[in-house]
Amino acid sequence: MARTRTVYRCTDCGADAPQWAGQCSGCHAWNTLVEELDGPAVGRVSVLTPTTVPVPIGEVDPTEFAPRPTGIGELDRVLGGGLVPGSVTLLGGEPGIGKSTVLLQAAAEVAAAGGTVLYLSGEESPQQIRLRAERLGALHPRLYLASEVALPQVVGAIEHVQPDLVVVDSVQTLVDPDLASAPGSVAQVRECSHRLVREAKERGCAVVLVGHVTKEGGLAGPRVLEHVVDTVLAFEGDRHHALRLLRVVKHRFGSTQELGLFEMTEKGLVGVPDPSGMFLADRRAGIPGSVVVPTLEGNRPLLVELQVLTSISALPSPRRSATGIDTGRLGMVLAVLHQRVGVLTAQLDVYALAVGGVKVAEPGADLALALAVASSITGRTLPDDLVACGEVGLGGELRQVAHTPRRLSEAARLGFKRAVVPFSAPEPPDGIEAVRVGTLLDAVVRLGLIAEPPIPIHRRRTQER
Ligand code: TYD
Ligand code: MG
Repeated sequence: MARTRTVYRCTDCGADAPQWAGQCSGCHAWNTLVEELDGPAVGRVSVLTPTTVPVPIGEVDPTEFAPRPTGIGELDRVLGGGLVPGSVTLLGGEPGIGKSTVLLQAAAEVAAAGGTVLYLSGEESPQQIRLRAERLGALHPRLYLASEVALPQVVGAIEHVQPDLVVVDSVQTLVDPDLASAPGSVAQVRECSHRLVREAKERGCAVVLVGHVTKEGGLAGPRVLEHVVDTVLAFEGDRHHALRLLRVVKHRFGSTQELGLFEMTEKGLVGVPDPSGMFLADRRAGIPGSVVVPTLEGNRPLLVELQVLTSISALPSPRRSATGIDTGRLGMVLAVLHQRVGVLTAQLDVYALAVGGVKVAEPGADLALALAVASSITGRTLPDDLVACGEVGLGGELRQVAHTPRRLSEAARLGFKRAVVPFSAPEPPDGIEAVRVGTLLDAVVRLGLIAEPPIPIHRRRTQER
C-alpha cells in the first residue's frame, strides 16, 4: 500500500490544503482546517468477498455482546451490567474528579475476577499509579501498567499483554507519530481513537478511554470521538463535595437513563446506595426557605433540599446567586412570584442553593424553588414532612412533571407524608398524601406562607405611593 501523507482538510467544505492555515481557501471559514492522513486515492470500489458473511438476523449470536461486570456496582449499573468485550467506552470528566481512581479500582476488580488488564497512562508514572493502587487496595498480578503514549508502542503493549480490558488514561496524551500535530489536537485524538476502536473490535477486548473535558463541559478534542466510541460516560460533581455522579451520554448496548453515584473517600470511590438519605442527613427542621424536592436523575429519584435566603440588598441591582440551580429558572420563578403571586423580590438579594453539591436543573423543581423563596421572604416555615414537585408556568399555573409517582414513592420511603403537586398529577403512592394546587398563588396560600390572596400587583403599587 502506498504511504499515506498528511493533508489539512476543511471540516466545513472538505477542501484540502498542504499546510495548516487559519482560514480555509475554499470556503473562507476560520479555524476549520484539521490535519488528516490521506490514503492513496481510491477510484472505484472493487467488489471483493466480504470478510464477514451476511447472516439472517435470527442467527446472530446475542451472547457475543453480553456485558462483563467490572465489579464496581455503580459503574455496572450505569453500563447495564458491565463492559461489553470489543466495545470502546469514553469516560469524560474534569481534572481531579476521579476518573483515574474509578478506573484503577475497576481494573483491579476485573483482574481479581480472573481478567487481564492493561492500564496505560500518559499522565502518571507507573510508580505514582502503584502508590495509588496500594492505597486503594488495587494491587493485582494480572493488572499491568505501562506509560506509553505513542500509538505503535501502545498497540505493541496490547499485543504483548493480550488483555481483556485496556484503560487509556488519557486519550489526549496519545500520539500518532505519523501526524505532525501536537498531542491532544483534534487530528491526534481522532486518529488514535480510531485505531484503538479497531484494536478493540479485532481482539475482542474492552477499551476505556479517559477524556478531559473543556471549561464549557464538552469533551476536549473532536465531537467525532463521541461518534467513534460505543459508550460515552460523563463523570460529574462538585470538587468541594464528595459526591460524584456518573451519567451515560450515549450507550450502544443499553439504556442511557441510568445514573451512578459515588462518594470520594480516602479509600477511593465508594458507591452510594441511598443518595437521598445522604442528601437529607444533615437537614435541620424549622428553617424558613427550605423545601425538599423529589427530582429525577435519569431513572433514579433523588430527594434534594433546596434552600433560599433573601435579605435586603444594599446594591443598586440586587444579587441573584444560584448554586446547583439554574440561574435562568431562578429568575423566572422570581418573576412569576412577583407578577402572579405578589411576592416582591426586586429589592432583595436572593441566594438559592441545592444542598449536597448536586445540580437540579429540571423544571420539576420550580414549585419547590418558588415555595422556598416565598418561605424565606415571609419567614414562615413549611412542614418538615412535605415535598413539592411541579413545573411553574409563566401564568403562575402548575404543571405535572414526568414520573411523579416514582418521585413520590422515594419521598414516602424517606418518611415524607405530604406532597404539593399540580391538580393533574396522578394518584400518589401509599404512605404519602397529595396536596393538590392549581397555581403558585394557591400553593402559597394553602401552605400558609401568605394569609390570603394579596392585592393584585397593579393596585398594590398605587397604594404604596
Ligand atoms: P483522580 O482519579 O486522579 O482524578 P482524574 O483522573 O479525574 O483527574 O482523582 C483525583 C482526586 O481524588 C484527588 O484530588 C484526590 C482524590 N482522591 C481521594 O480523595 N481519595 C482517593 O483514594 C484517591 C485515589 C483520590
Ligand atoms: Mg487522572
